Amino acid sequence: MKKQSIADILQLKGEKQELTAYGWVRTSRDSKAFGFVEMNDGSVMSNLQVFVDKEVSAFKDIMPKLTTGTSLRVRGVLVESPGGKQNVELKASEIEILGSAPAEDYPLQKKRHSLEFLREIAHLRPRTNTFGAVTRVRNALSFAVHRFFQEQGFLYINTPIITGSDCEGAGEMFQVTTLPLDNVPKSDGKVDYSQDFFGKQTSLTVSGQLNGEIFACALGNIYTFGPTFRAEHSNTSRHLAEFWMIEPEMAFCDINGNMDTAEAFLKYIINYTLKHCAEDMDFFNKWVDKGRVDMLEKIVNSTFTRTSYTEAISILEKAPRDFEYPVKWGIDLQSEHEKYLTEEVFNGPVILSDYPRDIKAFYMKQNDDHKTVRAMDVLVPRIGEIIGGSERENDLHKLKARIKELGLREEDYWWYLELRKYGSVPHSGFGLGFERMVQFVTGMQNIRDVIPFPRAYQSADF
Ligand code: 4AD
Ligand code: MG
Repeated sequence: MKKQSIADILQLKGEKQELTAYGWVRTSRDSKAFGFVEMNDGSVMSNLQVFVDKEVSAFKDIMPKLTTGTSLRVRGVLVESPGGKQNVELKASEIEILGSAPAEDYPLQKKRHSLEFLREIAHLRPRTNTFGAVTRVRNALSFAVHRFFQEQGFLYINTPIITGSDCEGAGEMFQVTTLPLDNVPKSDGKVDYSQDFFGKQTSLTVSGQLNGEIFACALGNIYTFGPTFRAEHSNTSRHLAEFWMIEPEMAFCDINGNMDTAEAFLKYIINYTLKHCAEDMDFFNKWVDKGRVDMLEKIVNSTFTRTSYTEAISILEKAPRDFEYPVKWGIDLQSEHEKYLTEEVFNGPVILSDYPRDIKAFYMKQNDDHKTVRAMDVLVPRIGEIIGGSERENDLHKLKARIKELGLREEDYWWYLELRKYGSVPHSGFGLGFERMVQFVTGMQNIRDVIPFPRAYQSADF
């Protein structure tokens, strides 16, 4: 027989059936004649209330043992609950303690713990309401990502994690090597990578895009959803060293089609999560960020503002306030600028396009003005940049010239260049930072609290 989860059990209407439930004690209340245990198994936010009749001889002394964190198997009859809060409760006939959790040192007590403290006990934090809800929302969002692309006929492809190229050209890569670090082989004073495992210098990927383009330029529409790694020293609430990215790539698609897909995609996955995680979303709305659900619903039903980088700069220059980081054409937008645009000017998501070429990666399609490229970033309130993308340069000569100009080595990109030599097509794509998306939906302030095991500068525990 299939084991029933507490989510399944709470769906039953209290029609006096006998069943077995498993879970961990969240709280318990003991009185003279009976006790109540709130039990949770992570399948839903709500607990199953267990009624313990102390007249039953086996239960006479059991209540003091049912402390927070104790794992249980409870057999009993599901009945309508006379109490107000819950519809049903389990009247226990048999209680087996599977694992005790000594009250004097179990780290998760009833009181609310700080998120900082919970990060130090990442092996237990999934047992809290907040992390249970984050985990279920994260799961729903991943499923919605696949559903959206599958419904649209995109193919899911897996791009390599170990790579020889730096897609974003920012030099923020983690090297992968089996060379002995205390005695690195050298030739002509330089590290001799021919002796390394792959016979060349390799790193963990910062993006699956370049490999994704290969498949888009053969199969049309594809997407990746995988881990990416950036050795960024930024110790902020929006940066991780290991994060997950969704990267669609579309052949025969220009920057406008790219924006349309990005907008439809964000709305779809938000809407899916609001529908399928209603109870968890109520929790975030109540305890983490009041008004979050309203804001998300508004976004699902809105049309995103689209404007250019240049226009955004002119809005920022006219802003009736000072920014910490001064604004002028050519700067990379800082989080304070993105916040101002999305929260104070447009009051919702904004898609900015045509950024200065000097602050964007080598692969973006160059505009005729020789100053800007066909980049498009999606900015959202509270988070700032959530998506980065572009139409790709599909002109072989322009791409070669750009690679040279940036001091990159043409031979490292020979296969990427051949996609422009043989049957080149206009194509576009973008990357959604998955953890920033989970933050945006839940309202969680710190990116380290929306991934099971965060990796960030000077921090890789668990
Ligand atoms: O803007 P980025 O660097 O774009 C790319 O990597 C492109 N190759 C994507 C593409 O066109 N296929 O990164 C994309 C998104 C950002 O908008 C942000 O949401 C997220 O990835 N991101 C990070 N998330 C967490 N921690 C970090 N260190 C991040 N760096 C980028
Ligand atoms: Mg970016």
